[in-house]
Amino acid sequence: MSSVEFAHFMQQCRQNVDQALKNLMPTIPEAGQTLVGAMSYSLFNGGKRVRPILAYASALAVGEANAQVGDGLHSVASALEAVHAYSLVHDDLPAMDDDDLRRGKATCHIAYNEATAILAGDALQTFAFDVISQAESLNAETRLQLVSALAKASGAEGMVLGQSIDLNAVDKTLTLPELEMMHAHKTGALIRASVQMGAMATEQASTAQLRALDVYASAIGLAFQVQDDILDVTAKTKTLGKPQGSDEQLKKPTYVSLLGLNGAHIRANDLKDQALESLTKFPENANLLRKLATYIVDREH
Ligand code: IPE
Ligand code: IPE
Ligand code: MG
Ligand code: MG
Ligand code: MG
Repeated sequence: MSSVEFAHFMQQCRQNVDQALKNLMPTIPEAGQTLVGAMSYSLFNGGKRVRPILAYASALAVGEANAQVGDGLHSVASALEAVHAYSLVHDDLPAMDDDDLRRGKATCHIAYNEATAILAGDALQTFAFDVISQAESLNAETRLQLVSALAKASGAEGMVLGQSIDLNAVDKTLTLPELEMMHAHKTGALIRASVQMGAMATEQASTAQLRALDVYASAIGLAFQVQDDILDVTAKTKTLGKPQGSDEQLKKPTYVSLLGLNGAHIRANDLKDQALESLTKFPENANLLRKLATYIVDREH
């Protein structure tokens, strides 16, 4: 697959998920305009849409998605991005990372206010589950499995647990296994769910395929946060769209603080190789996932 084809695929996914999100967003009476404004502000502000893209690529890796499954997949992609957007709105709050810049714009609590940002995050989260439960082209049982997968990945066994460990680790030195455990939850869990849920939405993935995809996703999920930690040190605020140096300022243990820049690069590349290795039994239609593994560790923002 050429770089042009890959870029085109990513662009198409971004358009699809943005369109689906626009169609699915609730229409709210006048009194709710601030809330929905803050939700939209946090959803449509230039995110890379990596989790939806992974879900689309994973669906393609397990077989052709027909038009009907396509609708279910758009709902899955939208739900993943809504949970991700909520996690960022809360992550930026003063009580958490206290960041004022996200995707090159004022963070939600700066553009609105703290209470509105908390509520917008809450509403984005419940919106995600509603979207899946209403995905009529999918079987009821599939929807239930998707809801469960997303809940587990987002909550006290997934992202929220990781965020809690992150906040408790401020100013501490973690061991590498402790750091990896934290990252696997705060970032890895939703990335794993993206890959699993994309495949599940086709209603034709075998258990063996789901298992292999999970090995892939565990590796790139971790690699994603290794690269995020690297970029926090090496990138420019302008390119990142979020404040460079935030981790150091907040005294967060990161891959870079533990392994050094070079060590972190080596770890990211090892994880990419592991991810690629896990796809050896997949035919050509997993090429997008292969390209995404490289994109995740080579990205510059
Ligand atoms: C940033 O996620 C937060 C992490 C989980 C590391 P992304 O890098 O996917 O952020 P956006 O959505 O593209 O802004
Ligand atoms: C955030 O990790 C992970 C989330 C669950 C949102 P970071 O705190 O490193 O993410 P950025 O760097 O602010 O995007
Ligand atoms: Mg954080
Ligand atoms: Mg942060
Ligand atoms: Mg970061």
